[in-house]
Amino acid sequence: MAHKVRWGIIGAGKIARKFAEGLRFAKSAELVAIGSRSKERAEQFAAEFGVGRAHGGYENLASDGEVDAVYIATPHPMHKSNSILCLEAHKAVLCEKPFTVNAPEAEQVIAEARRQQVFIMEAMWTRFIPVIAKLRELLGQGAVGEVRMVMADFGFRAEWDPRGRALNPALAGGALLDVGVYGISLASMVLGAAQRVTGLAHIGDSGVDEQAAVVLGYDGGALAVLVCGVRTDTPGEASVIGTEGRIQLGRGWWHGSAMTLVRGKEREIFEIPTEGNGFNYEADEVARCLADGKTESDVIPLDETLAIMRTMDEIRAQWGLKYPME
Ligand SMILES: NC(=O)c1ccc[n+]([C@@H]2O[C@H](COP(=O)([O-])OP(=O)(O)OC[C@H]3O[C@@H](n4cnc5c(N)ncnc54)[C@H](OP(=O)(O)O)[C@@H]3O)[C@@H](O)[C@H]2O)c1
Repeated sequence: MAHKVRWGIIGAGKIARKFAEGLRFAKSAELVAIGSRSKERAEQFAAEFGVGRAHGGYENLASDGEVDAVYIATPHPMHKSNSILCLEAHKAVLCEKPFTVNAPEAEQVIAEARRQQVFIMEAMWTRFIPVIAKLRELLGQGAVGEVRMVMADFGFRAEWDPRGRALNPALAGGALLDVGVYGISLASMVLGAAQRVTGLAHIGDSGVDEQAAVVLGYDGGALAVLVCGVRTDTPGEASVIGTEGRIQLGRGWWHGSAMTLVRGKEREIFEIPTEGNGFNYEADEVARCLADGKTESDVIPLDETLAIMRTMDEIRAQWGLKYPME
């Protein structure tokens, strides 16, 4: 690589801090700039992480000539406009999950990226965690035979705060978009785009899905059975089950470092330590793609991100869950 990718971050919140920590472990990256709606918050973040350039206003970050790539770390409803702002400024973009609030928004962002011929990728960090890369390898080798079922859950119990990101409809809150997307993305990685979609949600007092169960169906009969919650602390486990065996990922599967291959009475444990805090791997993928002159990643292509958004739109339509900005 000619030089390290010079990163800027939009939105100085919680996940921005995790990503900034992760960049310290990314061989390919350096964090050079932060953009916040408030100059003061940008300066505070810059001091915390030793970042040289603190911008008040996202436009100033997007137009910073010292920045190669921007990580979008704002709530879901801002992803579309923040991504387009950066693409128009010819910055590569790594946009937090969910990519957007819905598929029509994702289409607009992807169209803009293709028009500008600028790189963009959904920041589904799980895809790049070494154990998940090994899972893909094992499945490719037929370690469990033909995959018949994916089971995954991701749920946590947020405090009751209808104005907070987890439960606020104005911030596209709710379990499906916040954490259900991980299971849907895992199912997509293993089984491809779902042909049939169904599920049930509990829509709570703030008007968003506090917990949900989703079943995705595939031609040939494979199923994905997925559970998510923002008011329900679920075990956080996943399994990929095939005709010859299964692979089990334990608690915190979306960023874990171990999995067990079970075939009859045989059990094989794979332990693949994660370096850094895990966010470094998606940054390294962006760097690889940029060095290769790519405008999207083969590991999570834009059409797949769009298919995931369409699946979530269909599920929400069945529940009658529409956000105020839709
Ligand atoms: N990959 C993961 O593991 C993971 C984990 C958590 C969250 N996420 C994703 O990351 C995104 C941000 O989540 P977070 O937990 O970091 O949220 P957060 O702590 O609330 O931070 C979001 C930041 O976005 C900016 N922002 C811009 N417009 C805003 C608005 N109208 N309301 C609130 N904040 C606004 C704010 O920064 P400034 O005021 O500095 O501009 C805020 O600090 C979400 O899309 C979420 O799905 C991913």
